[in-house]
This record gives sequence, structure tokens and C-alpha cells, in this order.
Amino acid sequence: MTTLGTPLSPCATKVMLLGSGELGKEVLIALQRLGVETIAVDRYYNAPGQQVAHHARTITMSDPDQLKALIEQERPHWVVPEIEAIATPMLEQLEAAGVVRVIPTARAARLTMDREGIRRLAAETLGLPTSPYVFCDSLDELRSAIDGGIGYPCIVKPVMSSSGKGQSKIAGPQDVKTAWDYAMAGGRVSHGRVIVEGFIDFDYEITQLTVRALGADGRIETHFCEPIGHVQVSGDYVESWQPHPMHPQALAESRRIAQAVTDNLGGQGLFGVELFVKGQQVWFSEVSPRPHDTGMVTMCTQWQNEFELHARAILGLPVDTTLKSPGASAVIYGGIDARGIAFDGVEQALQIPGTDVRLFGKPESFVKRRMGVALAHNPDVELARERAKQAAARVRPRTA
Ligand SMILES: Nc1ncnc2c1ncn2[C@@H]1O[C@H](COP(=O)(O)OP(=O)(O)O)[C@@H](O)[C@H]1O
Ligand SMILES: [Mg+2]
Repeated sequence: MTTLGTPLSPCATKVMLLGSGELGKEVLIALQRLGVETIAVDRYYNAPGQQVAHHARTITMSDPDQLKALIEQERPHWVVPEIEAIATPMLEQLEAAGVVRVIPTARAARLTMDREGIRRLAAETLGLPTSPYVFCDSLDELRSAIDGGIGYPCIVKPVMSSSGKGQSKIAGPQDVKTAWDYAMAGGRVSHGRVIVEGFIDFDYEITQLTVRALGADGRIETHFCEPIGHVQVSGDYVESWQPHPMHPQALAESRRIAQAVTDNLGGQGLFGVELFVKGQQVWFSEVSPRPHDTGMVTMCTQWQNEFELHARAILGLPVDTTLKSPGASAVIYGGIDARGIAFDGVEQALQIPGTDVRLFGKPESFVKRRMGVALAHNPDVELARERAKQAAARVRPRTA
């Protein structure tokens, strides 16, 4: 049974977000709507989610001592990781000691923060189809992995990285050293481990949002959203749409894979399972045990968007993954390096029928930083894609 309290009172239901970017901000808003007391944690002050939470805390979340001290001080009922760079072994300790519950589980947060943990689980423990891969600790090991079977083209990624950072495609032997150096510069931690993956020549890729939520009988049930198609440029999402039309067999295989991975990771919450599809063949790529950036499209396509689904699953409430309308999202990049920027053209963007714009409120803009997203709904998903891209292009960031 779920009982919700009153925020800022002794009976408050308290949730702490570890990471308060644009995805965390929407989870926080969904929690606020249910009267949950929220604590938004980030590494810098005034992060998007901190602007909408009851409490804002700024710490280094990869530092186990800082993380432990903050959790013990705030005593939230749930800790919800929003980013990967967190001292997850400390979360496991605190969870095991019964201090706090981690969403979906501390183990899931640990396994997915590192490409090696989740890849070995999916391919070796669960036997799911993935690209061929080898982990390497040096340029020499990388060369022999490629020559020894991975072949060309292939993709190199730091084991600890996200949003395409440090990731590159290798076309032939001449690119190997550049890719290695790039991975060394782009990883989250200094130790130089990479994964090299055989390149999958997929027809398209999708995110299968999967929710583990409590059913009426108190047992966990798995719910699937409609598949989300997306386009990635240099490993970073630029547009997404829902639903992506799929062959029924490819959809069934995608959901079989998503179910196997999320069953193993366990707990309650929403997951973004990334899959590559060619004809009826499906490969598991990776999974986020939390809302997914490509899933921002659900803010205009589902009755309960991915953030609301996450919030409900966390709190033990029923969920509904039904589609409201087909739609699309397109990223609005900063385009400039500056603090406190201004945005022109929002009214022109919103003149396009069926569109909406979210500006995240990030205090600092970078050329390639995601500062907002344009949304468009339309019964014709292709038209929605066009309109979302048009709306995004009409928003023009500039120095204030
Ligand atoms: N083995 C692969 N074959 C083909 N494309 C890939 C492969 N691995 C990654 N990609 C492309 O790069 C994107 C980002 O890779 P991903 O592993 O999801 O990294 P990140 O954790 O940074 O999101 C994928 O969505 C896909 O478009
Ligand atoms: Mg990814």
C-alpha cells in the first residue's frame, strides 16, 4: 500500500534525485504534482531540476563520502539516480544496510554506469544478441582485438562515458590511434579501458521504454510503451519520434530482450532499452535504468509521459503506457559558449500547429549542449518529425 505525505511536514514522502538535468527536472515536476518532498542534487548550482525542487544540494556525486553524508543527513525514502557518474558501490552499501531504497536498485545503477557490467550481463549471462565486442586496456590490445575478429568498420567507446563522449567509428587501420586517443580524452575517469564493437549495419534503432510497476496484487508487472525511433549524430540524440513502425516479429523480439534485461536488473521504475533492428533481427545495445533522452517525445505523445511513469512506478502507483497521439521531438542546441543566454524565436516556433517547446534553464550554454527540446504531435508521425525540427530551428539562442 502506498501512503503519500505532506511535503515539508514530519510525514513527508521524500525523494532525492541524484542528477538534476532536464530529465531529472521532469521527474521532479511529476513528483511535486503528487505532493512529494523533493531534494535535487547536482554537481553544479542551479541545475534545471534544482529550480523546481523543494531543496537543492550541490555535491560531487562520484565521491562516496560526500554521497553518504548527504543521504544520511536528508534521509530520503528513495534515491533516484538520474546520471551514471555516481559512487554506486556506496549506494549498494546504504541499500544493503536498509538506509535507503535506490531506484530501480543500486545493483542496476552500478551495472549500467559501466559499459562492461551491462554488456557482460546481457551477452554472457542472459545470452541476448549484441554486437561482437572486446574490452581493451591499451592501443596494442585494441589493434589485436580488431585484427583478431572484430574487423572494420567498428566503434570504440570509453567504458565510462555517455552521450557519445569519446566515441568514434573506425573505418580502417589508419583510424585506430586517433580513435584510441579520442576515447582517452573523452572518458569519465582516467583509467583507459574501452569497448570495441563490431559495427551493426541496422535499418533503424529504437528505444523500448519499459516500466516495472506494482500491480493491484502487489506484484511487479512489466509495461511497454510504443517503440521510439531516433536519430543519433556522433552518439548524441538529435531527434526522436513515437511510434516507430515495426514488423510485429521485430517488436516482439525487442520486448523479449527488454523484458529479459529489466527482469534481471529488477526493482521498480522505468527503463530505456536501446535496440538495433535490421529486418526481423534485433540486437541489444544498452539500457538506462531511468528515463531516456529520446523519451522526451512522450511529453507530447503519451497520457503519462516517461517521467510521470517513473514517478508512479517509484511510489508504487499504477501506470498507463497508452499512446495519446503520434509525435516527435527535436533537440535545441546552445550553438554558443556563454552563460545566461537568451532565446529568440519561441513565438515563431509555437506558431507551427501542434508544437510545444521546453527550455531547460541551464545556467551555461555550450555549442553542443542540449538547452531545450521542441515537441510536435500529429496523427502523421512523419509530419510531426518535420514540424518538431522546424520548431527547434526557429528557436535561436544568443548572448543576452
Ligand atoms: N555497434 C554499433 N554499431 C552501430 N552503431 C552503433 C554501435 N554502437 C553505437 N552505435 C551508435 O552510436 C549511438 C550511441 O552509442 P551508445 O552505445 O548508445 O552510447 P551512449 O552511451 O553514449 O548513448 C547508438 O545509439 C548508435 O546510433
Ligand atoms: Mg545510448
